[in-house]
Amino acid sequence: MGDNRHAPVIAIDGPSASGKGTVARLVADKLGFHFLDSGALYRLVALAALQSKTNLDDTLSIEHITMKINGKFCSGEVWLEGARVTEAIRNEEVSAAASRVAALPGVRQALLQRQRAFRRPPGLVADGRDMGSTVFPDAELKIFLTASPEERARRRYKQLMEKGMRASMITLLQEMRERDARDSARAVAPLQKCEDAIELDTTGLPVEAVVSKLLVLYAKAQKAP
Ligand code: DC
Repeated sequence: MGDNRHAPVIAIDGPSASGKGTVARLVADKLGFHFLDSGALYRLVALAALQSKTNLDDTLSIEHITMKINGKFCSGEVWLEGARVTEAIRNEEVSAAASRVAALPGVRQALLQRQRAFRRPPGLVADGRDMGSTVFPDAELKIFLTASPEERARRRYKQLMEKGMRASMITLLQEMRERDARDSARAVAPLQKCEDAIELDTTGLPVEAVVSKLLVLYAKAQKAP
C-alpha cells in the first residue's frame, strides 16, 4: 500500500460532456496509467438507489447504499452486484440522480477511499469534478477542461445517438445547465477550478489535440522541481 501514495496522478476535472472522459482514457492509455472514472461511482450509487426504489431525498438510506455497494470496473465494463450496467449507468435518469446523490456529503465521504484506492504505480489518470481539489490534492498535474454548454449538449447528443438512445437537444441542453448549476452550487466539493489547475477550453478542439496538449503539460510537470 505504502508506495501507492506516491504513484503520480493526473487529475482531470470539469463539467459533464467537456470531453474529460474520452481525453482522460486516452491519456491513461498513452502513458500506460490506470484510469478512474469517478463519475461512474456516483452513477452506480444512483442506479442502485433507483433500482431499489429508494427516495433520493432519504439521505441515510442513500448513504447506506453507498457504503454497501458492490461495484466493479473491468476492461471498460461496469458491474453492479454482479450485473453488467455499462450502458444502464449512462441514461439521463441515472445522470440526473447521480448529480443529486453526489450532493450528499456522506456519499462523497464514503466514496473517498474507494477513489484513492485506484492510485497505483505506474500512475493514475483520474476524471471527475473534485479530483484535484479533494481526492488527489497532491496530483502532479491538475487540468480543468471546459467547453461551451451548446458544444457539450451536442457531444452528449452524439454519444446517445451512437448508442441508439433517444434524445432531444433542447432537453439535453436544459438538463446540462441544471446539472452544472447543482454540481457547482453544492456545499461539499463543488465543481470549480482549483487554483493550481490549468484551464483548457476544448470548444472546437479535436480530441487528439487536447490529448497531445495534456501529454506535453505532464512532461513539463515532471521536469518542474
Ligand atoms: O462525470 P459524470 O457525468 O459521469 O458524473 C456523474 C455525476 O456525478 C455528475 O452530476 C457529477 C457527479 N460527480 C461528482 O460530483 N464528483 C465526481 N468526482 C464525479 C462526478
